[in-house]
Amino acid sequence: GLAPLELATLDAVCAAAPAALPSTDLAEAVGVTHGVLVDGALKTLAAREALVLTPVLHEVWVLTAEGTTYASAGSPEAQLVAHLATATAAAAGGGGGDGDGDGSGGGCSLPDVDAALGAGVRKIGMQQAMRQGWVVMDKPTKALRLAADAAASPPADAVAAALCALRDAAADGGGGGGAAAALPDEGVLKALAKRKLVTKKATKTFTVVGGPRLADARRPQATDLGRDALTSGAWRSLAFKPYNFAAAGKPVDGGHLHTLLKVREQFRLIFLEMGFAEMDSARYVESSFWNFDALFQPQQHPARDEHDTFFLSFPESSRLPDEADYVARVKAAHCGGPDGAAVTGGSRGYRYAWSAAEARKNILRTHTTAVSCRMLRRLATATADAGGVFTPAKMFSIDRVFRNETLDATHLAEFHQIEGLVADRGLSLGHLKGVIHTFFKKMGMDRLRFKPTHNPYTEPSLEVHAFHPGLDKWVEVGNSGMFRPEMLLPMGLPPDVRVIAWGLSLERPTMIKYGVSNIRDLFGHKMDLDAIQRNPICRITF
Ligand code: PHE
Repeated sequence: GLAPLELATLDAVCAAAPAALPSTDLAEAVGVTHGVLVDGALKTLAAREALVLTPVLHEVWVLTAEGTTYASAGSPEAQLVAHLATATAAAAGGGGGDGDGDGSGGGCSLPDVDAALGAGVRKIGMQQAMRQGWVVMDKPTKALRLAADAAASPPADAVAAALCALRDAAADGGGGGGAAAALPDEGVLKALAKRKLVTKKATKTFTVVGGPRLADARRPQATDLGRDALTSGAWRSLAFKPYNFAAAGKPVDGGHLHTLLKVREQFRLIFLEMGFAEMDSARYVESSFWNFDALFQPQQHPARDEHDTFFLSFPESSRLPDEADYVARVKAAHCGGPDGAAVTGGSRGYRYAWSAAEARKNILRTHTTAVSCRMLRRLATATADAGGVFTPAKMFSIDRVFRNETLDATHLAEFHQIEGLVADRGLSLGHLKGVIHTFFKKMGMDRLRFKPTHNPYTEPSLEVHAFHPGLDKWVEVGNSGMFRPEMLLPMGLPPDVRVIAWGLSLERPTMIKYGVSNIRDLFGHKMDLDAIQRNPICRITF
């Protein structure tokens, strides 16, 4: 059924029909404020098509916060006049008057007035009252006193009266009912607006007429077509509630991006902005050859141990690349000797018997540098196919890697790496530092330091540290280097092509950004699913 306010509204609309009613008049007729009428009756009745509302936009004058204060406390000039009048009366009562004829004595000092009214009110009041000629200042002493006229008969506070009239009219819902004082005229309002005591506000009212379903609006509305209504035939006479296609939908539970994916997207945008192309990194299972050997990482290297790397049981190994000459050059680079020196431009190699079986072992890739490695070999092949014409490349990847780690609050056995590389002729360490500066600058990190480190596949190798103002300390943010000739020359890249590269984890900046202290809340089977819905989108700032 309908609420009493809705029924009263329908009665008022029917009584006025066929004339359209302004909603302000309607509010007055049913005895509620305009806002209550709109929210409590007009919206629902319009949705039921019992009423048709046509919006009317107007601008109305309303009091500002300052105007509201003066409406009750009086304008600053009136407050000042009142204060001076009382102070003078007190002085006259106490001291018997000074007899100089203007009835003001020495007046009130500014600090005294400030103490009574506050400095703000005193300043405005002084300015306005002096303009009106109500108050004068004694130049030598800076004391304020009432002018003779104002002392004789206190001036009316027209400002406060206008403000009160406006306030009362607004409280009245604009209906014009009651005994409210007449609205101040436009000139007065403009003057008040100039003093920022009133301001214009846009409001919306409606003209209201009966709608197509006015007649059956009083009948209960069916929201459902059930079995009973169908079998009994009652459906024939039911009034159905119309669909509200404008209703806001229920918030959906699905479709939220994982926190890491939000951050990944931002890193991806940074690379794209810098003109990098994304590498195809969809290969979690990798052969040791691409993950280690092609990167000049010796087969005895501790990272190739089961304690650090996950080896696959099935299929245990894969074929080496079909490019037998490339595999042979990789082998020579590892073994050293004259063959090695020939393919690496003089490197001594590691001097051990390189095993093809070891290189064929399948693993879960331990770094995305395996992806970079495949892409660089492809670049070398493309160069050969183009008759030796080399095309520089800028590439990146952001994807998952796996390490046989002891799990703790900051380490998981799987995580994500962000990796970028630039391949071009004649690149130097200066280029590496420059690109890294540009990259981290885009995340808001502009104080960087580089620290020498070791990677089997880069020389020199630099750790990247950034000053984090939020944490107020230097934090390690990445690893980088120039790929070794022992890696690039066997691939067949022209000898003057240099490749600079850097990598960082996706988890670390994500944890800093979202304030996650335990990585297991972020990723893995214990992760906090609610956080996915709660976490805001990511904007990369440091
Ligand atoms: N692969 C390195 C790591 O796993 C990162 C890196 C990439 C270092 C490229 C140098 C060059 O930490």
